[in-house]
Amino acid sequence: MKSLVIFYSLEGDTKFIAETISKELDGNITEIKPVKQIPTGGFRKYLWGGKQVMFKDKPDIEPINEDFSKYDLIILGTPVWASRFAPVFNTFLEKNKIENKKIALFCCHGGGKEGKTFVDFKEKLKGNDFVGEIAFEDPLKKDKEGSLLRAKQWIRAIKESL
Ligand SMILES: Cc1cc2nc3c(=O)[nH]c(=O)nc-3n(C[C@H](O)[C@H](O)[C@H](O)COP(=O)(O)O)c2cc1C
Repeated sequence: MKSLVIFYSLEGDTKFIAETISKELDGNITEIKPVKQIPTGGFRKYLWGGKQVMFKDKPDIEPINEDFSKYDLIILGTPVWASRFAPVFNTFLEKNKIENKKIALFCCHGGGKEGKTFVDFKEKLKGNDFVGEIAFEDPLKKDKEGSLLRAKQWIRAIKESL
C-alpha cells in the first residue's frame, strides 16, 4: 500500500505526528510551506493566523510536485486555527485535485478540540472515501510519548482495515 502524508505545521506539533505516521506506514511525506511564514511565538501568530482564517485567505505556498494518483491512502494533517484547518490548505486544495482516494485526517489543537476542521476538509474533498480522523492536544508540550503511541495505533488500525 502506497501512502502519502501531507501536512502543515507552524510550531512542530503537526510535523511530529505527521512524521510518526509516515514512518509507521513506511510511506512518503510532504510539507506544505507558505511562501511567507507567519511569526511564531508570542501573541502575534494568533492575530495573523486568525485574520487569515476569518478572511478565508489563500496564502501563497511553495509548489508541490506530487502525483496523487499513485497513492492508495492520503493522510492530511493540520493545526487547528480558529476552529478550522490552517488557511494554507485553502490554497493547497484549490491547486491540487484529490479525487477517489482513501483519506485519513488528523489535527493538533491547543485544547479546543477539532472544531470544524474535519467537517470542512470533508466538504472540500467530496468524492473521496474518509477512513479515519483523530485529534491531538499539543503533542509536543502535553504528552509526547502518549501521542506518539496513539498516532501509531490509529494508523496501524486504518492500514489493517483497508
Ligand atoms: C493562529 C492560531 C489559531 C489557533 N486556534 C486554535 C483554536 O481555535 N483551537 C485550539 O484548540 N487551538 C488553537 N490554536 C493552537 C494550535 O492549534 C495548537 O497549538 C497546535 O498544536 C499547533 O500545531 P503546530 O505546532 O503544528 O503548529 C491556534 C494556534 C494558532 C497559531
